[in-house]
Amino acid sequence: MSSTEYRVRVEVVEDRAAMSRAAARVVAARLRENPGAVLLLPTGSTPIGMYRELVRMHREEGLSFARATFFNLDEYLGLPAGHPASYHEYMWRNLYGLVDVDPGRVHVPDGTAGDPEDECERYEVGIRESGGVDLCVLGIGRNGHIGFNEPGSSFASRTRVVELSRSTRRANAGDFGGGAVPKRAITVGMRTIFESREIVLLASGKNKAGAVAEALKGPVTEEVPASMLQEHPRALFLLDHEAASSLRRRVA
Ligand code: PGA
Repeated sequence: MSSTEYRVRVEVVEDRAAMSRAAARVVAARLRENPGAVLLLPTGSTPIGMYRELVRMHREEGLSFARATFFNLDEYLGLPAGHPASYHEYMWRNLYGLVDVDPGRVHVPDGTAGDPEDECERYEVGIRESGGVDLCVLGIGRNGHIGFNEPGSSFASRTRVVELSRSTRRANAGDFGGGAVPKRAITVGMRTIFESREIVLLASGKNKAGAVAEALKGPVTEEVPASMLQEHPRALFLLDHEAASSLRRRVA
């Protein structure tokens, strides 16, 4: 089901499993059209099913990742290398370690870098030198964040060090099993995300319905980072019914 009611494309599917399959189909299609594609990828609970489906497509359908280039959206600052909650570990556990990526083409911000500002600059240059992002997949925070760009992030921002909001740290506390959630992170910036040639935002569950509605129906404002996508020429919101439940009408 899709709607032209909004400025960006919106597709609403039954549940999280259907969202995951639909997202994987978009990624796989782009890789088949352009095996050397540059992807900018998210972490979190939302994309886990998409990664599982991509791994299945690799094993059962021969989908190859070998010539593609990967960047991740964000990483905590200050976790020791190999910490299970780091996004580096997440990506190797859920995707990179399970398919045929070329490790030389895999990039996650280094949250252990001695000079994080330098690391941000290096990462931004890496994205630019790769030719720019062909497809960016995003989750959305309950506060409307994308990557770790919290409300108030400038639409002109580039990869940088950010302070995490209390709500984000609370939402992610489960990954740290009671331990402290880092206060700072590196995130790819809003402008860098916007420059992606194609963007797919995934949202699943009732707890995302408010943020989704604000991002799609509200004004384009830095207070709701995902609202920036309303201005993007090729963005898709891929939602399950619960995440779409605060939109004015059922999209049919
Ligand atoms: P989640 O996080 O997928 O774990 O809900 C999404 C986000 O904060 O971007």
